[in-house]
Amino acid sequence: MANNLLKGKRGIIFGALDENSIAWKTAEVVHAEGGQFVLTNAPIAMRMGKITELAETCGSEIIPADATSIPDLENLVSKSTEILGGKLDFVLHSIGMSPNVRKGRSYGDLNYEWMHKSLDISAMSFHKVMQTLEKQDAMNEWGSIIALSYVAAQRTYPDYSDMAQAKAMLESIARSYGERYGTLKNVRVNTISQSPTMTRAGSGVGGFDAFLEFAQKMSPLGNASAEACAEYITMMFSDFTRMVTMQNLMHDGGFSNSGMTQKVIDQILSK
Ligand code: NAI
Repeated sequence: MANNLLKGKRGIIFGALDENSIAWKTAEVVHAEGGQFVLTNAPIAMRMGKITELAETCGSEIIPADATSIPDLENLVSKSTEILGGKLDFVLHSIGMSPNVRKGRSYGDLNYEWMHKSLDISAMSFHKVMQTLEKQDAMNEWGSIIALSYVAAQRTYPDYSDMAQAKAMLESIARSYGERYGTLKNVRVNTISQSPTMTRAGSGVGGFDAFLEFAQKMSPLGNASAEACAEYITMMFSDFTRMVTMQNLMHDGGFSNSGMTQKVIDQILSK
């Protein structure tokens, strides 16, 4: 299916942990479409060893970086432009983590140190990435930057906890930096709000199987898979979406605009 959509384009992909990661699937599609990129993840994630498999498949180098650390990001951006031989055309921020969710703290008993961490890792890091890119003038004109969000930024979901605030902040940063980067350099900045997906980050949320099944029944097209998300991200990196910026783009099979669906009615009536 490859169409060389990203031929000659260079970028950085954050967040490929294992073969289920949305970033992993994205790396595979971007590679198939002719894009070249550096892979990065938190130093601690490197120990899992899997990212090297992906790097071999894609002919990519790996540069570890904690996305909350400015020195790490400075090193990542400067080395990436050096390795890739020029400025960048695309960046994927596919990073999320909440210690409160991980450790099962109730929303009425949050650890605020951990909440700071959730916001720093899952939202502020997006600003840090873009500020570093801007300061090093590392993006090409008409480049595309994407982060991944979830509909809990707009609506409540039990057990999503402080990640809801992180996603709301992430989407807000996309709008504010999108305004700035568009004016400065015609760089576009968007978030993609993805269906619940069975990955390491996703399965950390309590009752995740129920989330998946409910969303499946509430989405006329069903839940969007990680593979479909990778294809959407690739299209957003391509020249075919040059005028799209400062948006939160729903990639959810129709979930977010469904009030009720026949599948849910049938399930309730069958009881
Ligand atoms: P994943 O667990 O495969 O990816 C999360 C990544 O964040 C991991 O690679 C992890 O190492 C990285 N990370 C954590 N702390 C970091 C740090 N300090 N510095 C750099 N990287 C760090 O899970 P998934 O689902 O692929 O997550 C990717 C993005 O998609 C996240 O933003 C997540 O919130 C979002 N998303 C996921 C959904 C799901 O149901 N899985 C639904 C909607 C959005």
